Amino acid sequence: MLSLARRLVKKAALRSVHRRNEAWQVANNRGTHLPPALWGLTVNGAGHLCADGCDFRELARTYGTPLHVVNSDHLRANYDTFLGAFRREYPQVEIGYSYKTNPVPGVLQTLHGFGACAEVISHYELWLALQLGVAPEMVIFNGPAKTDAAVELAVSRGIRIINVDGLPEIDRIAAVAARYGRRQGVGVRVTTSVGWSSQFGVPISDGTALAAFERLAQIEQLNPQGIHIHIGTGIRNVAVYEQAISEVLAFAETLRQRLNIDLRYLDFGGGFGVPTVQNYSEWDNRLKANGYPARAIDTGACPPIERYAAMLGQQMRGYIGRNPGTNPSVVLEPGRAITSRAQYLLLEVLNLKPGKQGMQYAIMNGGKNLAMPLGYEQHELFPADRMHDPLASGRYDIAGPLCYPEDILFKARKLPELRPGDLLAIMDAGAYFISNQQNFSNPRPAVVRIDGGTPRLIREREQFEDMVRLDQPS
Ligand SMILES: Cc1ncc(COP(=O)(O)O)c(C=O)c1O
Repeated sequence: MLSLARRLVKKAALRSVHRRNEAWQVANNRGTHLPPALWGLTVNGAGHLCADGCDFRELARTYGTPLHVVNSDHLRANYDTFLGAFRREYPQVEIGYSYKTNPVPGVLQTLHGFGACAEVISHYELWLALQLGVAPEMVIFNGPAKTDAAVELAVSRGIRIINVDGLPEIDRIAAVAARYGRRQGVGVRVTTSVGWSSQFGVPISDGTALAAFERLAQIEQLNPQGIHIHIGTGIRNVAVYEQAISEVLAFAETLRQRLNIDLRYLDFGGGFGVPTVQNYSEWDNRLKANGYPARAIDTGACPPIERYAAMLGQQMRGYIGRNPGTNPSVVLEPGRAITSRAQYLLLEVLNLKPGKQGMQYAIMNGGKNLAMPLGYEQHELFPADRMHDPLASGRYDIAGPLCYPEDILFKARKLPELRPGDLLAIMDAGAYFISNQQNFSNPRPAVVRIDGGTPRLIREREQFEDMVRLDQPS
C-alpha cells in the first residue's frame, strides 16, 4: 500500500516537472527547440537547416550520412569571443586547444591558423601536432601516462613544456634531457581543493606539489617554468575556477618565496561549459526512465565567458600587485568552449516503429557509436529538413542501429511526423563525439568543413576495406 502511494506521488511529481518543462518549451520557441542561430545556423525557404548558406539536405545528398559538418566561421567566432574576453582582462593569455576534444586534423589545422597552441596528452597527439607543422614552442604536453617514446619525441624536438603528472616522471624526463644535452621546460600538474584530482596531478595541500618543485630545482637539465591545473569539463560555475585559481596563485607565491622560482606559465586548463549542452541530472535520468523527456536545456544557467574572464583578470592583477616584477603568461586549454557548437552530426531515419503509450521509435543510421556523450549530456536535436513542418502529436524515442537496448540517443522528443530518409541534426557534436567514436560494426563518418560558404571534405568516410586493413585473418 505504502509503496503504491509512493509510486503515485513520484509519478505526480514527474508529471508536474514534465508539464513545467513543456510550458517552458512552448513559450520558448516553436514547441521544443532552441533557436538554430545559437549554432550559427539558418533555415531556408524549403525548411532546411543551413550552415553558412550550405543546405544540410544537400550536404547529406553529396557526402552521404552519417556526416559531421564543421562550420569554420563559427569556430572563428567561438575562438575570437573566448580569447578576446580573456585578453581584454589580461593581455598575456594564450589558448592551447585540447586535441582530445576534437582530434580531426582539418579542425586542428583551422585552430592553429587562428594562433592556437596544441595541448596534447598522448604520443599520438604529440606526433600529430608536430606533423601538422605546429612549432615546438607552441606544444604543451600533459597527461598522466607519458610513454618513454613520447617523452623522447617531446625532448628531442624541444617542445615548450612537459607538465609532469607525478614525481616519478621527473627523473625520466631529466634522463632523456641529459641524453639530448637539452634543458627541457617543465611544469607540474597540481590539484586544488576543488575539481578533478583522482589519478591526476599532485596535491598542493599535502606538500607533494612543493616536493615536486624542490626536486625540479635540483636538476640542471630541467627548467621549472609552469604550473598546470584542469578541474573538470562542462563546468557552469565561475566560483569553482575562482577557488582553484586563487589556490594556484597562492602556491606560485610560495614557490617565489621558498625556492626563488618565478613561473613563466600559469596554465588553468579547460573545462568551460557551453550554454547549449547540459549534463543530465539524477532527475533527468528518472524522467527519461519513465518515458518523459529530460528537462529542457537552460542556456541561462551557463555563465558567459566574460564572467570567467573578469574573475581571472582580477586575480591576475592581484597576483602581479603582490609580486612586482613578475609577468607570467596565462595558458587556457579550452576544448568544448571552442569546438562544441561549431559542429553538427547528421543522421538519417532508417526505420520507424510503434513503441509503448503512443511513443514511436525512429531508428537512425548512427547511434551511441558516434554520439557517446548523449549518454550523459542533453543536446539539441533538429529535424534538419523539416524545420517548417508542424509537430506530430506523439513523441519519438530516437534509437541507433547497434542492436542493444541502450542504444537510445534521445527520449520522448517532439518532432514533425517522421518518414524514412528524414534527416536529424544533433547539435554540439564538436566536443568528445569524434574522440569517443567507435565502429561497432559500421564505418566511421566523413567530416565536411564549411569554409566561407564552401563545403570541403576534410575526412573521408571509412570504407569496409579500411576497417579490416590491419587484420591478418590467416
Ligand atoms: C588537461 C586537459 N585540458 C583541457 C581539456 C579540455 O576540457 P574542456 O573540453 O572541458 O574545455 C581536458 C579535457 O578533459 C583536459 O584533460
